Amino acid sequence: MLILGLETSCDETGVALYDGAQGLLAHVLYSQASLHALYGGVVPELASRDHVQRILPLVDEALAQAHLESSAIEGVAYTAGPGLIGALLVGACVGHSLAWAWQVPAIAVNHLEAHLLASMLEPDPPTFPFIALLVSGGHTLLVEVSGLGRYRVLGESRDDAAGEAFDKVAKLLGLGYPGGPAIARMAERGCPDRFELPRPMTDRPGLDFSFSGLKTAVLNVWNREPHSEELVADLARAFEDAVVDTLVIKCRQALQALGHSNLIIAGGVGANQRLRQRLRALTDTLRVRLYFPRPEFCTDNGAMIAYTGYRRLAAGQGETTTLQVAARWPLSELSPP
Ligand code: KG4
Ligand code: ZN
Repeated sequence: MLILGLETSCDETGVALYDGAQGLLAHVLYSQASLHALYGGVVPELASRDHVQRILPLVDEALAQAHLESSAIEGVAYTAGPGLIGALLVGACVGHSLAWAWQVPAIAVNHLEAHLLASMLEPDPPTFPFIALLVSGGHTLLVEVSGLGRYRVLGESRDDAAGEAFDKVAKLLGLGYPGGPAIARMAERGCPDRFELPRPMTDRPGLDFSFSGLKTAVLNVWNREPHSEELVADLARAFEDAVVDTLVIKCRQALQALGHSNLIIAGGVGANQRLRQRLRALTDTLRVRLYFPRPEFCTDNGAMIAYTGYRRLAAGQGETTTLQVAARWPLSELSPP
């Protein structure tokens, strides 16, 4: 079964073709990062308008990459939420229109579920059950995944998401948008021992996170110290270390509490190399297997949407008959196909 996947929940237009027998056949992406960089963050209306312009040429490009005609497509999966409502509407309208024109099912995909399944696009994919750390611009979640649509949230952020904290601290330090990669680059040059920032909520039981205090701790140092490139690098390093440490401690607690032998990483912050190294060390010690998508499938992409749509259609889920989008759509509302 060949599925076209459309991702338009935020500032990336992603299109991909996934086939049940042959795997991923095409994957193209247009990032609006430079469009929003001028404003220091995503401007929703600009994002929607840009998706409108990009999406159909990207569909053509994906078909050309796979050397296929549109008549080969057997279903259209689109991100229906969570995300920016106008941006989601573009993917939903285009998805339903194409599905209607081609007389194939349309299927609404949850963006968080797609992130959770993204590592299954890699060779040697994980099998259920596993614990997932989903760290993106909008979410920080530890989830027990026991099957498709079977998700139990073990912990989540009470305030800022991990990626959001990266973006806000980058803005404060004048590193621009998107913040995660910029902080990671600066941190390479920073001294690891100059500042010790808190590891929020790691001294108590429970698997929730909180990152807004960490952002304030960075602000306090920033207001106290004379500004220099060295300060930016040292603070970027201290901040990255604090976030990574916090995420690693919570993963250890979750693995020890639940006894699962698989950990998977998902979401944009999962592209962070220091986080990957530290989790590799943790899972080696605990004799747990660690899986993560290639960095480009950690951040938003069409491949994970096509794959999730495929899994649900293949498992017998019916088509989505109404044009369905939701700014908020928590994992807890999902059920198996
Ligand atoms: O999953 P994603 O592309 O979009 C959402 O669904 O939110 O995640 C984007 C987030 C941004 O906050 C970005 O700063 C962060 O992921 N990010 C990173 C890195 N690459 C992207 N954070 C830390 N280190 C990175 N290398
Ligand atoms: Zn995402």
